[in-house]
Amino acid sequence: MCGIVGYTGEKNCVPILMNGLTSLAYRGYDSAGVAVWDGSDLVLRKAKGKIENLKDLLEASPVSGKSGIGHTRWATHGEPSDVNAHPHTDSHKTLAIVHNGIIENYQHIKSMLVKNGCVFVSETDTEVVAQLLGYYYRGNAFATLKQALAMLEGSFALAIIFADDPETIYCTCKDSPMVVGHGNGESIVASDIPALLEYTRDVCFVQDRQIAILRKSGIEFYDEFGAEIEKETLHVDWDIESAKKGNYEHFMMKEICEEPDAFRKTYDQYVAKDFTLKSDRFPWDEARAKALDRITIVSCGTAFHAGMLGKKFIEHMAKLRVDVDIASEFRYGDLLIDKGEAFMVISQSGETADTIAALRKAKELGCDTMAVCNVTGSTISREANHVLYTYAGPEIAVAATKSYLTQIIVLYLCALDLAQKRGEMTQAQVTERLKEMSKLPAAMQKVLDNKEQIQFFASRSFAVKHVFFIGRGMDYALAMEAALKLKEISYIHSEAYAAGELKHGTIALIEEGSLVVALATQPELQAKVASNMEEVRVRGAHVLAVTNGPWEGAAGHSHEQWQIDQMDATLAPLCAIIPMQLLAYYLAVQKGCSVDQPRNLAKSVTVE
Ligand code: G6P
Repeated sequence: MCGIVGYTGEKNCVPILMNGLTSLAYRGYDSAGVAVWDGSDLVLRKAKGKIENLKDLLEASPVSGKSGIGHTRWATHGEPSDVNAHPHTDSHKTLAIVHNGIIENYQHIKSMLVKNGCVFVSETDTEVVAQLLGYYYRGNAFATLKQALAMLEGSFALAIIFADDPETIYCTCKDSPMVVGHGNGESIVASDIPALLEYTRDVCFVQDRQIAILRKSGIEFYDEFGAEIEKETLHVDWDIESAKKGNYEHFMMKEICEEPDAFRKTYDQYVAKDFTLKSDRFPWDEARAKALDRITIVSCGTAFHAGMLGKKFIEHMAKLRVDVDIASEFRYGDLLIDKGEAFMVISQSGETADTIAALRKAKELGCDTMAVCNVTGSTISREANHVLYTYAGPEIAVAATKSYLTQIIVLYLCALDLAQKRGEMTQAQVTERLKEMSKLPAAMQKVLDNKEQIQFFASRSFAVKHVFFIGRGMDYALAMEAALKLKEISYIHSEAYAAGELKHGTIALIEEGSLVVALATQPELQAKVASNMEEVRVRGAHVLAVTNGPWEGAAGHSHEQWQIDQMDATLAPLCAIIPMQLLAYYLAVQKGCSVDQPRNLAKSVTVE
């Protein structure tokens, strides 16, 4: 979704803003713009489409200056266009503003402003904030911002430059992330960490309705009542290279290739050298683990699919009931959840609007909240009672890959820890499983080393119109993620079905040439999956089987077989996801799709 970057310091801000916008492009956008103080005026440059269009515009009409703000817009109010692109100004160009989020009461404020003579040029809710600030402004930017802030409803992150004090950037937010940092004689704001990494690793997240005032000499923070506050600095240890593409053609491929490493980093945080769990890293002690009746897991998108697999792990190993829901459904549903119950959200970014809202509802109800999250300092990691961090590092491609893997690793380890504390598995059994688990990076690497096989398959199959992923048990949960990966980046219609459910309707869609990917990593269910493969094969489908080690039966029921190293059935999904991600990747590349930034999608969905 939209991205914000702002700079004030000694350098020319234009390349810095453009750099920042490029590093935020992964969030998804459809226009971009900057406002720069050139020494005498706030100069705006805005262009519909890719950041390259803005670059071209800046080459044709250059501007430079020591302070400025920039934005990538993902249209919500008003179509993607030059006029609707940010920054926006008020009619008198008192200020320039960039905004992420949605001002829910913008119509009401707009009517008031129109009645008072304001003339609007765009269709955006953001211009309403610009005009509102301009309308109230009498020379005191801070007072004006506080006054306007009291009127705004919805979600927003705002960065503003007033022409009267152009080397200062005013920032505030509500329910939309905003992070600031001070480097050597320069201050920077952005909506996401990667834009700051080149300048500083010591950052502060602005919290709801706080105001940050950025000057080249430093940053001041104020609470919602206008009192100055001290804020804790958070050190980000992501290295700059990990947020860059290096020699890879796409971030997605780079991030898939980083999975064995992300696995080790996450595993090492929760597992001691002697293959025992670091049991105090989990949000329950033995008594609590035994007393639990259920865990409710809530999340969106890929993180929801991680939750579906987590349910299978926890129910199977710890014999504990798990309910999984989509955050946007949970928050508006009947909240049948009691005080003190365990409630878990899963979120890579820690900023997904629906997941945050669900977490807040659960807190209101008095639940014991926990989060599986990849970003330190994010809203979700701040607000949950306990955080189980994933150690995927920055994930830039819109399609989640290594973040999903690290989520399911953490959920797997939660299942083992609960199983041990609830007396469902002995310490020795857990250690044996952890030892086997430690071999997974090597098994994953083998898949990566043989990726040409998948590339070749994709080169023959990219014209396929429908792909069905089928599986039973854990494989069904995995199929859901495999299908999402494929549709989101290749735009090929793909669906996941519990293999046994196919014949209750969906089998009607199978025709000559449909591709069916049968995930068959669970030996005790293979015979059942074999029947389902046969049902589609005889109806003309091209069947690809993904198996856990060799499975003799596969050849008779499928046209193609891919194997991962043989391993305990519960561990197989952790490895089998990699060929599925590679399949989606190569099909999308074959079709010439924009792999890292698929159409209409955003990395971090910060609006409902
Ligand atoms: C968007 C992204 C997905 C992600 C989902 C949840 O839809 O495109 O990749 O799975 O949001 O995001 P979260 O940051 O909460 O895991």
